[in-house]
Amino acid sequence: MTANLEINLGGLRMKNPVTVASGTFGYGQEYNEYFDISRLGAVTTKSLSLKPRAGNRPPRLVETPAGLLNSIGLQNVGLDEYLNIKVPFLRAKNVPIIANVYGHSPEEYAEMAMRIEEAQGADAIEVNLSCPNVHDAKTASGPTLVAQVPESVRDYTQAVKSATKLPVFIKLSPNVVDIREPALAAQEAGADAVSLINTLIGMAIDPETRRPRLTNVVGGLSGPAIRPVALKMVWDASKVLDIPIIGMGGICEPDDAIQFLLAGATAVAVGSMSFRQPDAALIIAEGIGAYLERHDITDVAELVGAMEL
Ligand code: DHB
Repeated sequence: MTANLEINLGGLRMKNPVTVASGTFGYGQEYNEYFDISRLGAVTTKSLSLKPRAGNRPPRLVETPAGLLNSIGLQNVGLDEYLNIKVPFLRAKNVPIIANVYGHSPEEYAEMAMRIEEAQGADAIEVNLSCPNVHDAKTASGPTLVAQVPESVRDYTQAVKSATKLPVFIKLSPNVVDIREPALAAQEAGADAVSLINTLIGMAIDPETRRPRLTNVVGGLSGPAIRPVALKMVWDASKVLDIPIIGMGGICEPDDAIQFLLAGATAVAVGSMSFRQPDAALIIAEGIGAYLERHDITDVAELVGAMEL
């Protein structure tokens, strides 16, 4: 008997609990040359802004011993090109689309969500309240992210929720003292799910030149280095939330994804690993199925929050 991998993620039906982390998968087209992306539970797009953005000046990627430090700065094609060029490809693939959006104000996020719904450009909206790379790090002590201020999380979530009937997922930042506060604020404002976690803010210096390795000095760390931190935050949040969690942060193989489900995530996203192995997300989806069968579990839902203490 094959186990049931289907899930309902805050109103979004997925054939398996695996998507990709925003910004690591473009808009899906390039990866479709490596595997059939319609086999994923959903495709999550690179953060979209109203207007196209070129992003920060390079270098904007640095490898660390177990992770990737990035300061891309929201390079993206902008909403019009997304709707006109990228969506038709994804719709032809018949894969659920989670559109990740970024804006400068609650109103701008609301406008984007409204336009995406109108154009049927996604099946869910992921609201990026946690990009670390849109401030000039040389002039500030560090970026202040919307996701670091629970009252702001509430305002932004409410704005998007009142603009669309699509499921709304709020992507939060690990750069906080207590993840439960922004997570609860998102839930109270009507979020349908939360995405945990975005990148951890970090930096690297070249001792020879004494210069930062990233032009924007600081960036966001992803990859296996952050997995234990992500897992702990998913666990913390799952204890206080009623809405589902999309767990992410350094998921490289099926066992990593299983850990996130056991900690309380309903779905998982594969990020940096897709750069090393383009079909990693598919291998992980298949591996979750194999795990369920190996353990005589009939439904993936039985794993969610099933860590034994
Ligand atoms: C970028 C990085 C992030 O971690 C994020 O959440 C959004 C955008 C970026 O630099 O493009």
